[in-house]
Amino acid sequence: MQTATRIENLPPYLFVGITKQIAEKRAQGEDVISLAIGDPDLPTPSHILDRLCEAARDPANHHYPETDGLPELRQGIAGWYQRRFRIALDSDKEVLPLIGAKEGIGHMTFCFVDPGDIALVPDPAYPVYSKSTILAGGEPYYLPLTGENNFLPDLENIPPDVADKAKILWLNYPNNPTGAVADLDFFERVVDFAKKHDVAVCHDAAYTEVVFDGYRPVSFLEVPDAKDIGVEFHSLSKTYNMTGWRIGMAVGNEEMINALMRMKSNLDSGIPQAIQHAAIEALNGSQDCIAENNSIYQRRRDKVIQTLNRIGMQAVPPKAGLYIWAGVPEGYTASDFAARLIDEIGVVVTPGTGYGNSGEGYIRISLTTPDDRLEEGLDRIERWYNSLQEGS
Ligand SMILES: Cc1ncc(COP(=O)(O)O)c(C=O)c1O
Repeated sequence: MQTATRIENLPPYLFVGITKQIAEKRAQGEDVISLAIGDPDLPTPSHILDRLCEAARDPANHHYPETDGLPELRQGIAGWYQRRFRIALDSDKEVLPLIGAKEGIGHMTFCFVDPGDIALVPDPAYPVYSKSTILAGGEPYYLPLTGENNFLPDLENIPPDVADKAKILWLNYPNNPTGAVADLDFFERVVDFAKKHDVAVCHDAAYTEVVFDGYRPVSFLEVPDAKDIGVEFHSLSKTYNMTGWRIGMAVGNEEMINALMRMKSNLDSGIPQAIQHAAIEALNGSQDCIAENNSIYQRRRDKVIQTLNRIGMQAVPPKAGLYIWAGVPEGYTASDFAARLIDEIGVVVTPGTGYGNSGEGYIRISLTTPDDRLEEGLDRIERWYNSLQEGS
């Protein structure tokens, strides 16, 4: 048996390796604290679960779903976008439910990238943008996100021949892993750039509801004409603690939505209908859980920042998202530092280089670990780091 070269050449997904390493250490009896994965520790709110259980018992929901989901779900998504961002969407043409944003992101690449084509991909970034490009036979052209450019890609610096050849541009704000945010001015420049070079824009907005200090992120689609050249991906995963149920959406440009629908209908059979009903409840029902979650994450954010700053590590408190992007102390690479934390004190963080070469010098700490474990993890880091300083 011989697997295809596209699989031979594909490295394992970042978190597959990390999860395996954690499982091995735990199997040896080690008390490992993971601050790595962005998976909310808080449960799905009970009104959403009640609807899910009720819908699961209804035989009407035991059949193949439609790929484009229930009309009530598409209307629920359009209504949520209208209330949250004042954006009007045609629920039949400009909305497509997904089996999680990750699925739609991966498949959208195949709608636009032919072998040899260029995709503009931020670096560091959620790995699916570059991995799906490579799987499609395309070439990622990396746009470095650095502290100097506020972790926004420098569109003016993209060589014009690259910009003209590029088929798709990936963006993600609030950003994973850097915690950076973007404003409407930036998105206006994106729309101008995309129109000038005929590039399809995909903005991944999975974290717009995880916010601190009253900050309110904008949607890319708030820019007039954004819908002419782009879509936005969103997700119920982080907003409603629903990572396990696998549900998200793509909204915006009709042609792009239609292409994604064509792709998906040939490959998958939609989202289990009981989960769609749970999602309708999440979007239309009480939104109280969002503020409740955010106050917990904000408290954790402040604790992480205080600890890191106390030991002299550089980290800016993010305005949104689930992550702290922290500079490693001098003399370490990102992967050295992360490896020492897991080997010496059983604390798992993600090395910045897991998200691209420009992540060198950083680690990512997730805020989705229960308070007592997070505090224990931070204590271990502080004690370990101080003991190194004393020994040096
Ligand atoms: C930037 C970004 N986009 C998308 C996703 C995946 O969302 P979903 O759970 O809807 O597939 C994640 C998950 O961590 C993410 O960080």
